[in-house]
Amino acid sequence: MAAEITTVGVVGLGTMGAGIAEVFARAGLTVVGVESTPELAERGAAILRASTDRAVKRGKLDEAGQQALLDRVKVTTDYADLAPADLVVEAVPEIMQLKHEVFRRLDEVVRPDAVLASNTSSLSITEIAAGTRHPERVVGMHFFNPAPVLRLVEVITTPTSDPAAVETVRSLAESLGKKPVVVGDRAGFVANYLLFGYLNSAMRMFEQGHVSREDLDTAMRVGAGLPMGPLTLMDLVGLDVCHHIGDVIYGHSRSQLHAPSSMLQRMVTAGRLGRKSGRGFYTYEKPGSGTVVDDELTPVVPGPEAAPQSVGIVGAGALAEELHNRLQQAGVTVTHVPDASGDLTDLRDVQLVIEAQEESEDPDEDELTGRDVDDLFAELGEVTAPGTLLATVNTYSAVALAAISGRPEETVVLRVHTPTANGQVIEIGRTHVTSERTVTALRALVTRLDAHPVACKDRTGLVVDALLVTYLNDAVRMLDEGYATVEQIDTAIRYGLGYPAGPFATIDQIGADEVLAVAEELYSGTGGYQPHLAPSPLLVEHVLLDRPFTAAPGS
Ligand code: 3HC
Repeated sequence: MAAEITTVGVVGLGTMGAGIAEVFARAGLTVVGVESTPELAERGAAILRASTDRAVKRGKLDEAGQQALLDRVKVTTDYADLAPADLVVEAVPEIMQLKHEVFRRLDEVVRPDAVLASNTSSLSITEIAAGTRHPERVVGMHFFNPAPVLRLVEVITTPTSDPAAVETVRSLAESLGKKPVVVGDRAGFVANYLLFGYLNSAMRMFEQGHVSREDLDTAMRVGAGLPMGPLTLMDLVGLDVCHHIGDVIYGHSRSQLHAPSSMLQRMVTAGRLGRKSGRGFYTYEKPGSGTVVDDELTPVVPGPEAAPQSVGIVGAGALAEELHNRLQQAGVTVTHVPDASGDLTDLRDVQLVIEAQEESEDPDEDELTGRDVDDLFAELGEVTAPGTLLATVNTYSAVALAAISGRPEETVVLRVHTPTANGQVIEIGRTHVTSERTVTALRALVTRLDAHPVACKDRTGLVVDALLVTYLNDAVRMLDEGYATVEQIDTAIRYGLGYPAGPFATIDQIGADEVLAVAEELYSGTGGYQPHLAPSPLLVEHVLLDRPFTAAPGS
């Protein structure tokens, strides 16, 4: 195998191929980019120019540096130009027949010691290699979008790949400043396998009207601290690509978690492919742009005047105090009744009452330290004026409290999340009879508290916990099934998807017991009919043995 890589070929200069060519050229390598037609070659060159223009605009590259970079990339339609390449990376559309055709042509033009790599998102590298003359020199080299930004490179081995070819690609990736992870040839490899289970669950929430498009994305970007919301990310990746990857993973797992969504199928058929076509879940300024413009689904954001001006807080404890202070700072009049068993008549004239009693510190007890909430809501329904909004920040069912209070249209649950680097989310869990006036008032109030509102149906885990815990449980299942190691999975998710931490570091941070508790609730909430939600036995083992997944720092 070529020991030193100085010239690299890239076949296919779409979003990924052009990004990969940029990564190589930035590192000073000579790049030969091949497209099938002069028009596509020009489009590829334009993607490269636009991306380096952005770097110049942001002061990351000067104009001379940009020109030198572009000069290192030769764009052509002639495969013969690949003759000097030490390595060729294929990044053509995800059609096996097309991949076979490309590799057949590569076999004809490249040197015998050149390494051939595929950037496929999900197709089997083994199957691609099987169609070539020298399967031992074929490996996967999977980049993440945007390739110049995200550092993960999955290096995929097959039963026939020569360890020297694998090492060549791995060490090249490292020299490019990337984080290579060497993994076996399994559907979705590591990052996509986990990502697409999560994206599918998120998309299903939107499809089923559980949450709006904007709120869903806010929930995960702000509430979970991820770099993008799931629908924004799918639009970036391309809905056709998402559909294809989802299908391949489902074909392997047969899990409900990956079951294809009919909405996605319809969107792809209708040509709504995401950013690249100008319309996906969102509408963009023009095809290829990342700037979202208003469309028929864009919500009207309520102004601050829609927020209640007077709020009652019932209960003592840290969260009650915090809400009290924050509401006051936001200019809201607060009536605080620390003892929920005491006199509630002071709450008669407030516009909203929030129940915020402290949860018992005894982990075996579900109870609150103060008064029974059913009892409290029954009384609140009587003492407060008609039209007063009622909410709880504890994990109670909105519908049960709505029925007990006799205020079905005005009762909601609130879930105050710990802030992330992207801000804080407060979820508003509603029933099918909660009025728009109630939701609008709470949205406005949450915004006044400098937090981001997310309104959704009141189902177990609302949006943030339901999606986060399902993903974390899936990561444990993946580990248990020998897909990859803790370190590989955490590295793949951090560097391939830009998450602040990998799933195992996240579980250790939240506490495996907390994750398991929500996972159990999610599973039992569906009556056990959703086997993909069943808590992983390995998660249970970690909880019972009190063992973290990741090694403690310094150990
Ligand atoms: N090309 C080149 N550089 C880009 C870029 C692009 N398309 N988009 C953004 N950047 C650069 C910017 O120039 C900026 O660089 P700088 O910090 O050096 O100035 C940096 O990225 C941050 O960009 P912005 O400030 O404009 O925007 P954000 O901070 O919002 O970051 C993002 C944008 C990098 C896309 C970030 O949101 C992110 O990492 N999102 C996660 C994307 C993800 O999950 N990708 C994986 C998808 S799955 C996949 O690709 C696998 C495949 O098989 C489908």
